[in-house]
Amino acid sequence: MICLGIEGTAHTVGIGVVRDGPVNILSNVLNMYSPPSGGIHPRDAANHHSSVFVDVLEESLEKANIGFDDIDLIGFSVGPGLGPCLRTVATAARSLALYLKKPLLGVNHCIAHLEIGRAMTDADDPVLLYVSGGNTQVIAFLNGRYRVFGETLDIGIGNCLDKFGRKMEIKFPAGPKIEEMAENGKKYVPLPYSVKGMDVSFSGILTAATVLMKKERREDVCFSMQETCFSMLTEVVERAMAHTEKDEILLGGGVASNKRLQDMVKKMAEEREGRFYCPPQNLLVDNGAMIAWTALLMHKSGMKMNATDTSIRQNFRTDEVEVTWRD
Ligand code: ATP
Ligand code: FE2
Repeated sequence: MICLGIEGTAHTVGIGVVRDGPVNILSNVLNMYSPPSGGIHPRDAANHHSSVFVDVLEESLEKANIGFDDIDLIGFSVGPGLGPCLRTVATAARSLALYLKKPLLGVNHCIAHLEIGRAMTDADDPVLLYVSGGNTQVIAFLNGRYRVFGETLDIGIGNCLDKFGRKMEIKFPAGPKIEEMAENGKKYVPLPYSVKGMDVSFSGILTAATVLMKKERREDVCFSMQETCFSMLTEVVERAMAHTEKDEILLGGGVASNKRLQDMVKKMAEEREGRFYCPPQNLLVDNGAMIAWTALLMHKSGMKMNATDTSIRQNFRTDEVEVTWRD
């Protein structure tokens, strides 16, 4: 069975083709919107998605070496995400499903990050640390659902890095450049370490870093920001592992590309005699293959959706999903 997966919750249009059985990714094409200046306006991102959609689709089919007739199922990211982007991609997905007369499934974007990680690594029942621009969540499977054990109380970690980058006139996405600058950091300057129970908060760190940037070396501020934010995330994820008695930790989301974050979480896992897993970079970021794979899992467990079930859900919560494909 072959599934076409369409992602478009935020800045990236991703279309992937995945065959079931042991996961077999035939193609995974991405096109990311990067605004000429400033932050991402949802309407501009949605316009980008509609203008590149057909090209991404054609390239994805070509790379997978399949035609429209070979598609058995279509999955798309139904939420959470930016309204205009979700609507654009949902319209395209519905039109395609109607035209090809194929079943359509709306996939929860956060859960797709976790499922592709489980498929691509040896992780079986992990705690997921999902760290991206818009999302920061600690998710694990318990009593039939994926539950959120901790999350950001304000902005996502990636958003915090990108906003700080903008103050330094670094173009979006700023995370990789901040990682590079942090490698030349020599001094830790204290920033507000904000863990509240299982939750974290980044806006105070952003404000403090913006002030410090005027008096300290920028490399030192980047280094201190990474050390502070990533320690906070490592602390909450460790607590989630202890509470749930799970010994696997899986990373997901664009910020998980960061080597310093990977090292910190890996060290914590090793100290607890747990196991650390991180999928390859092109599956960490928003992508269509993860949507296709999750749609396949849903479909094979007997899930069906009619047109109203595929209405977009801007604030779709991870724990609202009935997980029919796991015991
Ligand atoms: P979502 O819709 O799930 O919130 P997203 O739209 O932010 O995701 P992703 O592709 O998962 O998309 O992640 C992009 C984010 O990852 C950006 O904020 C970017 O700065 C950050 N990022 C990418 N590489 C790195 C890195 N090496 N270190 C830190 N942050 C990074
Ligand atoms: Fe994402």
